[in-house]
Amino acid sequence: MKVLVTGGAGYIGSILSRILLEKGHDVTCLDRLFFGMDSIKEIANKIRLVRDDIRWFKPEILKGIDCVLDLASLSNDPSGELDPQKTLEINYMGRVRVAKLSKKYGVSRYVLASTCSVYGFQEEILREESSLNPLTTYAKANTLAEKEILPLADKSFTATVLRQSTVYGLSARMRFDLAINGMVLGFFKNDKIPIMRDGKQWRPFVHVKDTSNAFIKVLETEQELVNGQVFNVGSNEQNIQIFDLAKLVAESIDLPFNYEWYGSPDKRSYRVSFNKIKETLDFKPRWPPEKGAKEVFNALKEGKLNPDDSRTITVKWYKHLLEIHSLIKDVEINGVVL
Ligand SMILES: NC(=O)c1ccc[n+]([C@@H]2O[C@H](COP(=O)([O-])OP(=O)(O)OC[C@H]3O[C@@H](n4cnc5c(N)ncnc54)[C@H](O)[C@@H]3O)[C@@H](O)[C@H]2O)c1
Repeated sequence: MKVLVTGGAGYIGSILSRILLEKGHDVTCLDRLFFGMDSIKEIANKIRLVRDDIRWFKPEILKGIDCVLDLASLSNDPSGELDPQKTLEINYMGRVRVAKLSKKYGVSRYVLASTCSVYGFQEEILREESSLNPLTTYAKANTLAEKEILPLADKSFTATVLRQSTVYGLSARMRFDLAINGMVLGFFKNDKIPIMRDGKQWRPFVHVKDTSNAFIKVLETEQELVNGQVFNVGSNEQNIQIFDLAKLVAESIDLPFNYEWYGSPDKRSYRVSFNKIKETLDFKPRWPPEKGAKEVFNALKEGKLNPDDSRTITVKWYKHLLEIHSLIKDVEINGVVL
């Protein structure tokens, strides 16, 4: 299949693109390259790279594409608050644009990379049909995008939404701003796991290779089962309380469980049901958090990851890009076009 991945140079997109190539698909990557292109340099000669913005790319690149996996966005809650207007332009309107143009240009399948953050924080176990409670600009933009994209589904255009858990694991565009990866980094740098108070809060997790495989499962599943559907991506077993998660991370690295608290008590706690994706797509994550934490720790130990790379904390990097942008417009800095 000819697959276009927006955000294909990102944390998830760069892994997803590799798996698609391994499975014999033809991959086009549409990305602004806000984090540069180190993440895809190994596969650069195997993919078509379109360095452009989802808000204004030329739609002709969609000609002949069978599937669009739409991952480009400002990818977490704090980044979404830096410039809420830009967040809505990219994460909501930009992705609606991608979906509408995909339909217009005869793409048969479209998958939106959404997030479990759309549920906000609620007491009940959250299912796809539970009410949404988006609390941040990032979550609101995802909610708006979902609402406008799902009704585009029809016989010739299969639209699916994947609400991903918090992702972890090694990627060529590394993110240490994600809970498990951040815990490992804390351990690596200071021999202590940073834990957000009071550690009792629940969160769902999924490994980066598993969430990538969920996108591919959707492409490989018959249209009737996924068209117009929303799936939570993760597994019931990986709803974990943060303090227990920190213990798992320490055990996996085989170091004494030293930790330090940070932040004020986090009242945000939520658990998600992953029955639908298991029953409908036979989706079973292969990676437990311990294994993901270990691979990140080993990569740090072996010098394969730079613990001080400022691009790995997404919000800090976007803040930096915005600051430079306000000083110098339309200039390329370190391979990043602003
Ligand atoms: N990583 C997680 O834990 C997680 C959890 C739930 C949902 N998601 C969603 O999955 C998607 C991928 O997340 P990620 O962790 O890979 O993030 P990421 O920040 O690593 O990747 C996003 C990519 O999109 C690109 N991009 C941003 N704005 C763009 C624009 N206007 N035009 C073209 N390209 C643009 C960036 O350059 C980057 O390469 C995002 O939509 C994110 O919100 C991620």
